[in-house]
Amino acid sequence: MTHLCKETLVTVVNGQLPGPAIEATEGDTMWVHVVNESPYNITIHWHGVKQRLNCWADGVPMVTQCPIRPGRSFTYRFAVAGQQGTLWWHAHVACLRASLHGALIVRPNRNNSGGAAGSSPYPFPEPDMEVPIVIGDWWDMDLEQLDKNMMDGYFADSQTASTINGKLGDLYHGCGGAGGDVEEEEDGYVLEVEAGKTYLLRLINAGLYAEYYVKVAGHRFTVVAADASYVNPFVTDVVAIAPGETVDVLMAADAAPGRYYMVALAMQPPEPDPQVPVASTRGMVRYRRSGVVVPGGGGGEDVVPAVVPDMPDMHDVDTTFFFHGNLTSLRRPAPVPARADERMFVTLGVGSICRDGEPSCERSGSNESIIVATVNDVSFQEPPAGAAASLLEAHYYRHRAAAGEELRALPDAPLRVFNFTDEALIPWGPVEARLEPTEKATLVRRFRHGAVVDVVFQSTAVMQSGSNPMHLHGHDMFVLAQGFGNYDAARDVARYNLVDPPVKNTVVVPGLGWAAVRFVADNPGVWYMHCHFEFHMSMGMIAVFIVEDGSSVDISLPPPPVDLPKCDAEESLAVV
Ligand code: C2O
Repeated sequence: MTHLCKETLVTVVNGQLPGPAIEATEGDTMWVHVVNESPYNITIHWHGVKQRLNCWADGVPMVTQCPIRPGRSFTYRFAVAGQQGTLWWHAHVACLRASLHGALIVRPNRNNSGGAAGSSPYPFPEPDMEVPIVIGDWWDMDLEQLDKNMMDGYFADSQTASTINGKLGDLYHGCGGAGGDVEEEEDGYVLEVEAGKTYLLRLINAGLYAEYYVKVAGHRFTVVAADASYVNPFVTDVVAIAPGETVDVLMAADAAPGRYYMVALAMQPPEPDPQVPVASTRGMVRYRRSGVVVPGGGGGEDVVPAVVPDMPDMHDVDTTFFFHGNLTSLRRPAPVPARADERMFVTLGVGSICRDGEPSCERSGSNESIIVATVNDVSFQEPPAGAAASLLEAHYYRHRAAAGEELRALPDAPLRVFNFTDEALIPWGPVEARLEPTEKATLVRRFRHGAVVDVVFQSTAVMQSGSNPMHLHGHDMFVLAQGFGNYDAARDVARYNLVDPPVKNTVVVPGLGWAAVRFVADNPGVWYMHCHFEFHMSMGMIAVFIVEDGSSVDISLPPPPVDLPKCDAEESLAVV
């Protein structure tokens, strides 16, 4: 594909970027045949699908399955039950998900909606049209190489841009050959609308790096759902959406017919990092002619200039904080459990490690340290690709070490207070001064079936890139509260929303702040919990939650599908 004036080879699904949207009705059982024609080991994750008693289809390499090798195939079978709204799918293979992703839309079953004929199946007036809006990013380099660079802790000098439904739609510099200085405008995404109609925009942030602010000039949004859970509707002119999140909004085409820019602005709090160029991108909402001639609308000369929205500042962290704070759930399918059985304080940070894996370079005699991301001061060690089985198989067959690695219990972090005001420690100061030595380990935390778990995610002072969208597989989380600064139980527990907290699979932990969530560990299996910023994930901001079987077979993990890919040693050698 050619973007940014350069042709780049990308791995995509069915020749499309974004990949095909999968449309389902609640209660459907999906069969998705994945044929791997790429040179990479691939798995596909169904982001936000709860996979109840079906961890085998969760698609995390070496965690829930051995990957699908080049030339092989695997059929993911899963049900979309008890969920409605916008989810998505993506390869769970490092940076490759930048080009391997698409929407997964679960519509309500009209026969079950109980309303009169012609009534809306949604808890809001039925829109005239539904449109997936996938925000992504484009890299003009090989995505595997990008991932290697990430893990080595350096950002290669590559060009990157943001996209709406795969289109760039902005001005780019540097075209016209090596070191060229030509500016070129690429076509952007265009949404044609008809005056008076209402559009349900299903926004998905499939990007690797940035949280976005999304606006359409001259229009307002009514937010109706987030992460495939309905919310109490509220009106806003800006949506904040972090990697991994989905937000559904209604937009009425009620402006004067014309052309209006739709802008997705990549946030970059607190300060721009010159090493990581992030961008904004713009598409267009264009009114269709309906008898009346729309100035500049569709086809003819653009007589009237398109209207540009007034965007928040790219360093603005308050707008996203309030946007997420406005989310409250509309339906309460299950009441929020009144108290937790287990509490965890989880710090999200950055540390340094010696290239050879030793925490201290002095001890190992090497002096090359790299930067890693951490959960409770430990950077996650992914199970080795050459292991005999995935962690889930090891767990199911009770082979503790079958994954080739001794698992370590996720340590309980003591409640800590971070200094967010000391000049020497502020995030935009020199990072080296704030790094603590850390280590690599495969961190797991076991929960008995049905345990009610409270997690407080605390961002630490070393975090540079603002928020951390923390995603838990296999479970939704009630987001009870969020705040800036240090979490303080004595003050903050009283503020927990136990009445109508939003239900999310990805919780945005504010930069230099915290978020408190509660979830019920009732889905047996081995579940990934990680930051959805790809670079934090590649750098190790991950833990694994293991939920034990329940007391009877109907709440226990069934055996694996017979065709689950194998990872025997011979096969793995063959592809290296
Ligand atoms: Cu959308 Cu583990 O990821």
